[in-house]
Parts: sequence; C-alpha cells; structure tokens
Amino acid sequence: MAAAAGVLQALAATPLSSAMREGAWLYPIVEIVHIAGFAVLVGSVVLFDLRVLGFARNLPVVALGNHLLRWALASLLLVVPAGLLLFSAHSVELANNPAFILKLVLIVIAGLNALAFHLLPYRSVASWDRDRPAPPLARAGAGLSILLWLGVISCGRMLAYL
Ligand code: HEM
Repeated sequence: MAAAAGVLQALAATPLSSAMREGAWLYPIVEIVHIAGFAVLVGSVVLFDLRVLGFARNLPVVALGNHLLRWALASLLLVVPAGLLLFSAHSVELANNPAFILKLVLIVIAGLNALAFHLLPYRSVASWDRDRPAPPLARAGAGLSILLWLGVISCGRMLAYL
C-alpha cells in the first residue's frame, strides 16, 4: 500500500498534473474531452443494447453493431487518456474515493460483459439479425450493459460530491 501511495504522490507531483491543477483552462478542456468521449461511448453502446432488447427490430443488428460499436471503441481514445489526465490532477484523493473505485470496477465488469456477449450469444446473430427476438442470453447481456454504464456515469458524477 505504501508503494501505491508513493506512486500516486509522485504522479500528483508531475509538471503535467500541476498544470492540470493550476492552469485556468487545461482541466475544464480535458473534462470536456472526457465528457464528449463518454457521450459517444455510452450513447453508442446503449443504442445497440436497445436494438438487442427488441426496439427497431427492422434494423439489422450486425449492420447497426458495426456502425455503433466502431464509434464506441474509437471514443475510448478520448475517454481514457482524458480520464487519466483528470485522475493525475487529484490522484491521491481519487484513489481513496469509493465512487472512483466503484466506477473503475463497473467499467471492468462492463468490458467483460461486452466480451462475453460477443463470444457467446452474438455468434448466432445471423439467426436473429432482423425481425426476430434476440435469444434470452443476448437480451440479458444488453440489459446488464445498460445498467452497468448507467452505474459508471452515476459514479463519475458522484466523484465531485464524495
Ligand atoms: C470508460 C468509461 C468512462 C465513463 C462513462 C466516465 C464517465 C464520467 C462521468 C459521467 C464523469 C462526471 C463528469 C461531470 O459530471 O463533470 C466523469 C468524471 C471523471 N472521470 Fe470518468 N468516465 C470513464 C472513464 C474514466 C477513466 C478510465 C478514468 C481514469 C482512470 C476517469 C476519470 C475521471 C475523473 C478523474 C473524473 C472527475 C472529473 C471531475 O469531477 O472533475 N474516467 N467520468
């Protein structure tokens, strides 16, 4: 634990994290990038999940997935670096913030849930690509995904209050 605390303090002492804390515009700009990124990420994932749950059944799941999930993955190029920069500004405090720890845990579970979805029910997508209900396992994965990302967003917002 002492080693982790040392790393967090070293991170908070870097010129970059000092600039994030002291600069008038750097932190808000990075936060705007973070928010823009996760708006695309969570928006894309939730719209895909709603299709799997049975909305807009005339829309082909594979074509919609190829479009939306590509943007979801690309948005990580904004979300993660911006998130790490925001974290670096207050690393010691955030590492002890229960909302931040829960947020990272939910992000990992959401990632594993997406992986399980693609490795399991999505393999049979050709049989439910259009005008057919998705199998129960796919709908369960989609529903869980929406709840998990809602949890991530809630934890993200709560960071400022805890
Ligand atoms: C991957 C999906 C992610 C989502 C959906 C997400 C979502 C959010 C949300 C909703 C906020 C609150 C924004 C506000 O209301 O001002 C936030 C803030 C924050 N996020 Fe993320 N985040 C994600 C990933 C990350 C990662 C990977 C990190 C760092 C390792 C991170 C670090 C932060 C920090 C430090 C803040 C606090 C900013 C502040 O309140 O000043 N986020 N995030």
